[in-house]
Amino acid sequence: MEKFYKQLLENNRKWVSTKLEKDPDYFKKLSTGQKPPVLWIGCADSRVPANEIIGAGPGEVFVHRNIANMVVHSDMNMLSVLDYAVNVLQVKHIIVCGHYGCGGVQAAMTNKHIGLIDNWIRHIKDVYRFHHEELDAIQDETQRFNRFVEINVFEQVLDLGKTSIVQSAWERGQEVHVHGWVYDIHDGLINDMKVTLKDNDSLSDVYKLDL
Ligand code: CO
Repeated sequence: MEKFYKQLLENNRKWVSTKLEKDPDYFKKLSTGQKPPVLWIGCADSRVPANEIIGAGPGEVFVHRNIANMVVHSDMNMLSVLDYAVNVLQVKHIIVCGHYGCGGVQAAMTNKHIGLIDNWIRHIKDVYRFHHEELDAIQDETQRFNRFVEINVFEQVLDLGKTSIVQSAWERGQEVHVHGWVYDIHDGLINDMKVTLKDNDSLSDVYKLDL
C-alpha cells in the first residue's frame, strides 16, 4: 500500500516531464486561466474518471462528482459549481453521466441500512418512487437496475433544468445544453440517452420560473 502511495507522486513527476517534453509552455499556458466548454456531473465511482473516458485534457472539463451523480437542489456544493460553471465560465454543455453498475443506485433498490449515506441514497429512492410502475414491471433484476440508472440520469437532467441558474441562462438567451449519458463499466462505452434539454419546455409547468 505504501508502495502504491509513493508511486502516485512518482507518476506525477513523470507526467510533468512528458507534458513539458511535448510543450515547454504547457503549464504556463494553463496557469493563465480556464475556459472549459463542459460541466461534468458524474459519479464518485473510481471506475468512471471524467476526463479520461472522454479524452479531455486539463482545462477542458469543469467537474463535480458525488455518489450516483445527483443534482440535489439543496446541495450548496453542487449549486455553487453549477452557478460558477454557467455564470462565470459560461459552459455550453452540462453532462450528467451515470454508469451501469452504480453502487449508489443499487443501494437505493434495497432496504439495506448502511449509515449516514442512507440520507443521500433517499434522493435516489425518490426517483424510484416516481417511476415505480415502469421499474417494478421489469422482471429481470439486472435489467431493472440498468433502467433505474438511466432513469436516474434523466431525472438529474430535469433537476438541472428546474434550477433558477439554468432557467435564467436560457431566459437571457445563453446557450446551455443539458445532456444525459450513461457510461458502461463493462465495455467503456458511453450511451447518450438523447434527453438533451435546451429550454424549460420539457419541465412540468409547476417548475417553470417567471424570469
Ligand atoms: Co456510481
